[in-house]
Amino acid sequence: MSDFLPIEYPIQIPYQLRVYFTKRVFDSANPLFRDLACSRESGNRRKTLIYVDEAVSQANPGLTEGIETYFKHHENDLILKGIHLLPGGEVIKNDSKVVKRIFSDIEENGICRHSYVVAIGGGAILDTVGFAAATAHRGIRHFRLPTTTLGQADAGVGVKNGVNFHEKKNFVGTFAPPFAVINDLQLLATLPDIHMRNGYIEAIKVALIRDSGFFRWIEDHVNELNRFEPSAVEELVYRCAKHHVAYIATSGDPFEMGSVRPLDFGHWAAHKLEQLSKFELSHGEAVAIGIAIDTLYSEEMGYLDSTSAQRILALLRQLNFETYSDYLEKKNGSRFPYILEGLEEFREHLGGLLTITLLKNIGSRFEVHEMDTDVVLRSIERLKTL
Ligand SMILES: NC(=O)c1ccc[n+]([C@@H]2O[C@H](COP(=O)([O-])OP(=O)(O)OC[C@H]3O[C@@H](n4cnc5c(N)ncnc54)[C@H](O)[C@@H]3O)[C@@H](O)[C@H]2O)c1
Ligand SMILES: [Zn+2]
Repeated sequence: MSDFLPIEYPIQIPYQLRVYFTKRVFDSANPLFRDLACSRESGNRRKTLIYVDEAVSQANPGLTEGIETYFKHHENDLILKGIHLLPGGEVIKNDSKVVKRIFSDIEENGICRHSYVVAIGGGAILDTVGFAAATAHRGIRHFRLPTTTLGQADAGVGVKNGVNFHEKKNFVGTFAPPFAVINDLQLLATLPDIHMRNGYIEAIKVALIRDSGFFRWIEDHVNELNRFEPSAVEELVYRCAKHHVAYIATSGDPFEMGSVRPLDFGHWAAHKLEQLSKFELSHGEAVAIGIAIDTLYSEEMGYLDSTSAQRILALLRQLNFETYSDYLEKKNGSRFPYILEGLEEFREHLGGLLTITLLKNIGSRFEVHEMDTDVVLRSIERLKTL
């Protein structure tokens, strides 16, 4: 016991979550990056360390030279401290040496809290570089330039980063809003088809929980999306990113202190599937199956009408997503498949009460705090035979 009263002050830190859309961001005539980097204390030459996804660099010959030319053009404002290539994909999040290497680059190049670290690539590169930037010197300003539809519409426009640990996804990470996100829509031109579709699934997810009009728009543009027509892809990316940013900024819980995570609709099973498949299933492929499971679960429980459930499954199929995988059946000797462990792992990852988002309607969601595992298994069984 003490007579001293507790000392309490609120700490309020205003963040601005900013996502810009452009094409050819490192064309010397494009001022966006320079203007953002020099927006606060212009005149200060800014040290910048850049990481580029190897596949993006390979698919876009001249990209790194273009970045060098850009920095030369703006040499009164910006200093390029290096461009490093990193292998893309989930492997990078499983390799703890990569984060250490970025720390070394930051140290060796004198990158400080008034410098920038820039990540150009898929969500895996953004997560890894973002984590290193957020923790070196307790946080270095960090630009994200996502180059996948998933990155531009979802993974890259949020406030989280993370790497995997002991095969658990995003076990180590931080909440750290980027200094700015720049979506260069031109960079999507070289993205392989399978990864193009991965962004579609996050758009379907956000439409299902927030916006029935957007869901209808996706249904109406299935052909254009299957042909990867840039105008349709760009609109999908824009609308999805807007929903993500709006949710994060207005939900009242940007750093996920509570248990409600509607943006993770369909993700409890997805995370487990990615792990069970040793990441052979991409995030998008796994989320499509996760959405299918939670859609049928919502229907089985009487929350969602059958017509809506069928519409959702039909859209997934029209966009060429599988809604079933043999990994769903993998068992550990008991009667229960491993996939059910995904529920407990999801709870553990969020902390607190298990909270799963389900659907009431297309565009309208609600939360439950327990799942009937028999009904989950029945939903999976139905997907197998559909
Ligand atoms: N931080 C978050 O809030 C958040 C949210 C959702 C997902 N994620 C994470 O994002 C990751 C998935 O990201 P992703 O779907 O962008 O995949 P990815 O980063 O694995 O990239 C997919 C592949 O495409 C290549 N690639 C990327 N852009 C390219 C381009 N323009 N041209 C040619 N090749 C290109 C990459 O090298 C890689 O091989 C997962 O690790 C997931 O956990 C993070
Ligand atoms: Zn996702």
